[in-house]
Amino acid sequence: MRQWYGVRAKGSRMTRSWAEPWKIKVVEPIRMTTKQERIAAIAEAGYNTFLLRSEDVYIDLLTDSGTSAMSDQQWAGMMIGDEAYAGAKSYYNLVGAVEDVYGYEELIPTHQGRAAEHILSQILIKDGDYVPGNMYFTTTRFHQEYAGGKFVDVIIDEAHDPTSLHPFKGNIDLDKLRKLIDEVGADKIPYISVESNVNMAGGQPVSMANLKATYELCHQHGILVMLDATRTVDNAWFIKQREEVYADKSIAEIMREICDYSDGATVSSKKDNLVNIGGFLALRDPELAKQARALLVAFEGLHTYGGMSGRDMEALARGIREMVETDDHVRARVGQVEYLGNKLVEAGVPIIRPVGGHGVFLNAKAILPHIPHDEFPAQALAAALYVESGVRGMERGIVSAGRNKVTGNHNYPKLELVRLTIPRRVYTQAHMDVTAESVIEVVENSAAVGGLRFTYEPESLRFFQARFEPIG
Ligand SMILES: Cc1ncc(COP(=O)(O)O)c(C=O)c1O
Repeated sequence: MRQWYGVRAKGSRMTRSWAEPWKIKVVEPIRMTTKQERIAAIAEAGYNTFLLRSEDVYIDLLTDSGTSAMSDQQWAGMMIGDEAYAGAKSYYNLVGAVEDVYGYEELIPTHQGRAAEHILSQILIKDGDYVPGNMYFTTTRFHQEYAGGKFVDVIIDEAHDPTSLHPFKGNIDLDKLRKLIDEVGADKIPYISVESNVNMAGGQPVSMANLKATYELCHQHGILVMLDATRTVDNAWFIKQREEVYADKSIAEIMREICDYSDGATVSSKKDNLVNIGGFLALRDPELAKQARALLVAFEGLHTYGGMSGRDMEALARGIREMVETDDHVRARVGQVEYLGNKLVEAGVPIIRPVGGHGVFLNAKAILPHIPHDEFPAQALAAALYVESGVRGMERGIVSAGRNKVTGNHNYPKLELVRLTIPRRVYTQAHMDVTAESVIEVVENSAAVGGLRFTYEPESLRFFQARFEPIG
């Protein structure tokens, strides 16, 4: 029988826009403030966007961490979470989801990513050890140093160049890694910390070829590979787009293969996993898992809930399955970030390219060349953007990089950025349009933005709580 429409419609060359694979069932009102109110609010917050009250924020792009909108299925899971102290059904659902999606058998549930990093660092790092990684992450490096280790950056040089269009700027430089092994000896390197879709580099992916080569090199030397799998779905998407042999594989298949090249992972479930709180350490070696559980019960909670309630674990188990259920989810997620990035590129705003997976990173050094590095250009730019429009981003530059433990001087990172991070399933394209217009306005008025100095500088992880005042 002849088809009524399908056959005749064949051969259309029209390309289609993607759309979010969900519709909105619940909304939360947001409030626009006046410029006068925002000038007062940012002064009150010590020019640190972390210290603003969220009710004073219009579009909140501070972070994609814990800010996702959960699905109806996840909310339904919250109602049936098993709150048993020991052996909760929701724990076993979570174990099953992690095993199916990530492929790790040993699960240590924590309240969020940094607790998993703490436990991993404590069981593996000895005083004087070295921990190589593809760029530092703030809490990850803190816990490595807290355990007596020294972080060594072995990411490729292109990652530090905001203008490089390398498709995998998160890659490990194997020569740098070999050099470190030669210099300090493999027995001083308990593991390499490989972050997927490197946050501090602008949400840049690692290629599968590089993950495989890194794993082989490390295993030749008896060095473990620990993945920071916090944003692995985004990384899988970029592998599918940019590494030809993976074009026809599903995100779920690519995810599993990424994890295959590791001995375990720390995960902040507040990102990929679509929940507002939670995390885990996952391992393959049951002996290591035993040591991890001994610390878990001391620092977090019993081994079948760790740092989470039953309902949190239930929502997390469902979020983990949902994030890879169809490729449309990540297509829309990364697509929205790209949409904002492309608008800024078209307007000539200097941003990190290629556009990353979880946010758009403004190149504050290029936007505010008149502000010296130690007057915190990215901190000043984030504050100015808030004053302009109520859009909240965050500094990822010299303030985040902290001080050198030995000399006490600032660490001067090559990248001085403001991160506009897009929460998952929360904002619409119209919010992205308003954000782009706001950024463009600030960039056009950039000469009016001045530098800042500390009025309060916390000793560690200073970016969270530091306070500043304008210079002059
Ligand atoms: C790459 C990466 N690792 C670890 C963490 C720490 O996770 P959490 O904030 O859940 O403690 C984060 C959080 O932003 C992250 O982006």
